[in-house]
Amino acid sequence: MKKTIIANWKLNGNKKIITDFLLNVHRHLTKTELNSVNIVIAFPQIYLCLVKHIINDLDLNIHLCSQDVSYNSIGAFTGEVSIHMLKENFVKYVIVGHSERRNFHNENNNIILKKFIKVKESELIPILCVGENLKEKEMKQTELVLKQQITKILDELGNTAFDNTIIAYEPVWAIGTGKSASIEEVINIHKFIKKYIQYYTNNSIQSLSIYYGGSVNEKNIKMLSQQKDVDGLLVGNSSLNSEIFIKMIKNMIY
Ligand code: PGA
Repeated sequence: MKKTIIANWKLNGNKKIITDFLLNVHRHLTKTELNSVNIVIAFPQIYLCLVKHIINDLDLNIHLCSQDVSYNSIGAFTGEVSIHMLKENFVKYVIVGHSERRNFHNENNNIILKKFIKVKESELIPILCVGENLKEKEMKQTELVLKQQITKILDELGNTAFDNTIIAYEPVWAIGTGKSASIEEVINIHKFIKKYIQYYTNNSIQSLSIYYGGSVNEKNIKMLSQQKDVDGLLVGNSSLNSEIFIKMIKNMIY
């Protein structure tokens, strides 16, 4: 299966920067290269429609991802964007429970569960972010924290909760710090997540992918993407610069 790279732009970019970025990707990657990796871009939601047009015009094989979604469907919810609105704008993936949403917007496991359900019902692909903070890591509570984050969803949705979904292991201490988890840590945690879900669902899980995110860059992406337990990578900072982003894609291929 192709490995995936997701560019999570967070609150960055404008029309010109985004357009130039896509033009550069078009210019510097061949069709074969573009088709060798599953490329997914999470620009701020307001640009997704524009981006879809550019992608179509340039015939780029790139998929759209939303950084968040409302758990409400319609009504008096100022500032929110519904799953239907995302679907209408050709979004394929939705990030749910990123640590910046958990920390800066007080999203707890209950809220994240509601969002996860919305995405699953709509048949878009949820990317559930899980991960421990530094204090929890130091107290050796990583597995406990991950279990809590994942079990909430399993308890509610049962054995099929994670069928055709993605879990992104994103240790909070590694996000935006330049200090990625080691390959061993990533492999161990990915194996732990898969085993835990297999155990919980009596091995009935279908097509669960596990990605890693946290200070992925053009240097460590090759090694990370070569691991069989790493199905994809979620990249923040290093995805903002088109030159580096293109280099990362090439490093995943060659
Ligand atoms: P980073 O962000 O690559 O800047 O560490 C990753 C993320 O938040 O998904």
